[in-house]
Amino acid sequence: MTLEEKVGQLVQYSAGQATGPGTGRTDYEDMIARGQIGSLLNVIDPKQITAYQRIAVEKSRLHIPLLFGLDVIHGFHTEFPIPLGLASTWEPAIVEKASRVAASEASATGIRWTFSPMVDIARDARWGRIQEGAGEDPFLGSLMAAAYVRGYQGSRLDAPDSIAACAKHYVGYGAAEGGRDYNTTEISEHTLRQFYLPPFHAAVEAGTASLMSAFNSLNGVPSSANPFTLTQVLRKEWGFKGMVVSDWSSIGELVAHGIAADDATAARKAFLAGVDMDMASSLYHDHLAELVRAGKVPEANVDEAVRRILRVKLALGLFERPYTDEGRASHAFFLPESLELARIAAERSFVLLKNVPVAGSNPLLPISKNIKTVAVIGPLADNPSDPEGKNPSAPKSGVPSLPAELARRLGENNVLRFKGTGINSGSDEDIAAAVAGAMRADLAILTLGETQEMSGEAASRSKLGLPGRQQELLEAIVATGKPVVLILFSGRPLTLPWTFEHVPAVLAAWSPGSEAGPALTRTLYGESNPSGKLVVSWPRSVGQEPLYYNALSTGRPPGNKDLTRPPYDTESKYVSRYIDEQNSPQFPFGYGESYTSFGYGPTRINKTQVSAADLNKDLSGSAGATGSLTVEADVSNTGARCGDEIVQLYVRLQGTSTAQPVRALKGFQHVVLAPGETRKVTFNLGPDAFALWNISNQFVVEPSKVTVWISPDSTRGTGAALEIAP
Ligand code: BGC
Repeated sequence: MTLEEKVGQLVQYSAGQATGPGTGRTDYEDMIARGQIGSLLNVIDPKQITAYQRIAVEKSRLHIPLLFGLDVIHGFHTEFPIPLGLASTWEPAIVEKASRVAASEASATGIRWTFSPMVDIARDARWGRIQEGAGEDPFLGSLMAAAYVRGYQGSRLDAPDSIAACAKHYVGYGAAEGGRDYNTTEISEHTLRQFYLPPFHAAVEAGTASLMSAFNSLNGVPSSANPFTLTQVLRKEWGFKGMVVSDWSSIGELVAHGIAADDATAARKAFLAGVDMDMASSLYHDHLAELVRAGKVPEANVDEAVRRILRVKLALGLFERPYTDEGRASHAFFLPESLELARIAAERSFVLLKNVPVAGSNPLLPISKNIKTVAVIGPLADNPSDPEGKNPSAPKSGVPSLPAELARRLGENNVLRFKGTGINSGSDEDIAAAVAGAMRADLAILTLGETQEMSGEAASRSKLGLPGRQQELLEAIVATGKPVVLILFSGRPLTLPWTFEHVPAVLAAWSPGSEAGPALTRTLYGESNPSGKLVVSWPRSVGQEPLYYNALSTGRPPGNKDLTRPPYDTESKYVSRYIDEQNSPQFPFGYGESYTSFGYGPTRINKTQVSAADLNKDLSGSAGATGSLTVEADVSNTGARCGDEIVQLYVRLQGTSTAQPVRALKGFQHVVLAPGETRKVTFNLGPDAFALWNISNQFVVEPSKVTVWISPDSTRGTGAALEIAP
């Protein structure tokens, strides 16, 4: 390969719908023929993909195939719930299956690389991209990261229906200050090691073919030019052999960050730090060969980056089969089993936030048979997550919407439909019509929240209430005195204190995907019993953000007083609190109600003491020193319906060299319990459950006092004590 041909493999452009600022180039066909492009993104038309591939394979001197990439985030044509919703299932197996379907559909058009999963830990609901990840917890986030990778890549990357995964955005992107997208991050090494890095490590261990370097500056060094994270941690410590692609123009952005005075320096810094491929900034194309000739970049490093990229192309089988069988596209999308999976995933992603008895009778959900007429009100009823609105030419699933599904059950005339208001704009007349409509119905189902465009990239919000006049609409409908069920569509938690006080039934539905209508209807009617649990702390007010359960205690935690009324905790002024808001979230991490209820017995452990030395031996791989440590609790279904409960296990360590979270998730299990049934739920804990990043920058178990809880969320449960002796 000539130097220029080598550099060509490291260059990627967008040849479709741009998802960032453009480079001004469009001469891709000539560039491909000259071997100057290694990968294209955002091309979704199979014919166009084949046309570009023909140029690469048949006209370029070395015949090296292109790699086509796309953001296949939660499905390709069959849309699954957004990742935040998928994570709320707490079922890695569902995520794996959904990613498999996404891989199969995307690959049918020739896309062999997805820029997913986003494994960024997110602690701030203002950050729009919180919807693209698995929430605030590294343990759950790591399991989800690995599940996505397994699903996309399948058992063999060279199977025609497998696609390469890309864990992003490496690293710390989710900690953007103020929740403002692309903003600066400052993360200490122990926080990075304990919270932000583990999901990436899990993706690497699961064999992800690639990682994407992030936009954000991390501790003063932009992530796309950060040798510590890209080379020291990723290559040297984790032994990652795959490729690293920059985020969109993040190499060019090193100039704006201020660590490069010109484009050539930006290219050199990103490349030497460990970024193999330049997405959409054109700086490797423009400068890398010259940097090598000038002796500023060793050619051996270029060779290594080229090898990493060619290895991925080889692993995908692109050299043997560069072209996708275009016939596959006719029978790859919306397969009945794919849609069924999308429905199940949606049902399990729903989190029932509230469902209290109304005026001495039953809760509103599931909907009683006595309800004959419903008013479906709100801007999101027919298009709850805009699941198919992204690409007008894309095939449609034809799955009925929520009102259509309701009409199938109740009869067309018994489902009254009112927009009530738009998302951002509304009129008095529309609100009045919805109020009048609610008066004629037995039940009002409100569908409010955010459109998909209100979260995701470049969609951070400083206010987290209902946009536009939706709050006004909600209050007007509640004022009618008719029973109200609220289905909330959003890419993040919303701060709705009035709602949680006045609306008796609230379901967080996120963005459910293609099967929104059937999944919601089955849930409303109790054919599916909600079992999702929150993977993000749900704030009461924006001022609490960043808000996350696995926080440190501080030296002045508030006491256990009732903090429900302002001014909060007046007896102790000098504690870590607000004078005008509670510390606690509206709903904690791990929380979710069910149509039945569950009772938890106390947590029991089979030992009172273990030794740190033994645990450290286990941690370093010389297994078996500790013997098994088992923790158990009895969990009962105390209600009248069968239900799936996500039983969670948390630990707290005290007396360690670095302060540790007040609780940290270390295990969970799903148990399906019949009414009245009690099951003993047992967890085996290994050394990982107690390991921490210590004051000497080592990952070890330290002598400490441990509390272990088996509980329904991150705030409840009766803990058991364990001592880790030296
Ligand atoms: C986003 C990435 C995405 C890329 C390509 C960027 O703006 O941050 O997550 O993969 O665009 O669309």
